[in-house]
Amino acid sequence: MAAILQVRPVTDVLPRLRASASPQDPQFFQDPYGFYAERHADEPGFFWEEYGHWCFADFRSVSELLRDKRFGRHILHVASREEIGLPQPKPHVADFDLTEQHSLLNLEPPAHTRLRTLVNRAFVSRQVEQLRPRIRQLANQMIDSFEHDGSVDLIKSFAAPIPAIVIAEMIGLPAEMAPQLLNWSNRMVTMYMYNVSHETELDANRAAADFTAYLREVIAERRRQPQQDLLSHMLTSDRAGDVLSDDEVLSTAILLLNAGHEATVHTTGNGVKAILESGLDPQSLFASEGQTEATVEECLRFDAPLHLFTRYALMDLEYNGIRLRKGDVVGLMLGAANRDPRRFVHAERFDPFRTDAANVSFGAGIHFCIGAPLARIELQEAMRVLFARLPRLRIVEPPRYANVYHFHGLERLRVAWD
Ligand code: HEM
Repeated sequence: MAAILQVRPVTDVLPRLRASASPQDPQFFQDPYGFYAERHADEPGFFWEEYGHWCFADFRSVSELLRDKRFGRHILHVASREEIGLPQPKPHVADFDLTEQHSLLNLEPPAHTRLRTLVNRAFVSRQVEQLRPRIRQLANQMIDSFEHDGSVDLIKSFAAPIPAIVIAEMIGLPAEMAPQLLNWSNRMVTMYMYNVSHETELDANRAAADFTAYLREVIAERRRQPQQDLLSHMLTSDRAGDVLSDDEVLSTAILLLNAGHEATVHTTGNGVKAILESGLDPQSLFASEGQTEATVEECLRFDAPLHLFTRYALMDLEYNGIRLRKGDVVGLMLGAANRDPRRFVHAERFDPFRTDAANVSFGAGIHFCIGAPLARIELQEAMRVLFARLPRLRIVEPPRYANVYHFHGLERLRVAWD
């Protein structure tokens, strides 16, 4: 999940460094790549009028800035709200804010290091590799359930349930909770919409409150009777007398549950769409383990699920000739960086056989996605099983992306086979 950074006004930007695109304009969020191509051809560091802050669209700047310690996800450890002109928190989203308060994504070292170390062990490759057979089984089960229908919305019946069940089971929640978790998460994600309405905020806050109440009950249960799951691990692990509070466990569990599926769902949808629209033979894309991995990496590069992450400048500084004041926000455009023609040959072409493969879809630096090894296994297994079981898959309705620009994913992906 992306945390919401508050932006204060920036003035004195040269007109040639300004660019405009409304994140809620359907033409834009259905296909932001035209706007990205213009930035690549022009100034990749530009002032995005609608957001009111500087953004970077090129691969080099995005990779560098994600690792640059002069920038952070959090600002209030180095400045007060008054000092940098940040508005006060809104009382009607207090439950939502509480879920973000101890979120790894919003912390800076040493608090970040402490929390991340504690959960990281569960997500290292060696550990999540053990989930591969379960993921394969789930992919097969989903296909069993709709194979005879001849057509399906792949997002709802395949892409969404697999990662939701996997992360629920890891945390220690029953698979049957997956639909409810998806509902809470989808409603909370609307908070990241550009220009979010009051009603949407209220609904996202209600979802956060219900999610929190549910988890508080489970946490109390696990305190009484620990199990072999991540929730119990977080509650009981003790590093030299240092234990996590209920609120820290709550924030972390919600982050893992939400981040643990949203982007994977979108990458599955975007990836299947890219494969089917490319005209390439899907069988050749999953012919070996190595090629399966390369195909998934190209899906992540070509149509990334998360397009914009933000950072605060933690001090006054200059980057590539752009002067930033402490507290200024910068936008790092992951989806645009992945299409940078200075970094990739035929960047606009979906090519799982490319020799210059790379992407910043999982971020970089201290907040690099903790779930990347798990997401990669989920994507490899789900897509491989899908194309093996339904080799004659085809798209039967023009796919449309949802109106949450940061989360670039399809509302529906209607496919058929024979
Ligand atoms: C294709 C799937 C995924 C993508 C593209 C993705 C992308 C990202 C990105 C870009 C960040 C860094 C954000 C920033 O720097 O501000 C991030 C962080 C994170 N992701 Fe993922 N993610 C995916 C799947 C997952 C999964 C499966 C999990 C958990 C099971 C997960 C958990 C997290 C967590 C906990 C963080 C915060 C790490 C930190 O702040 O130290 N993600 N993810």
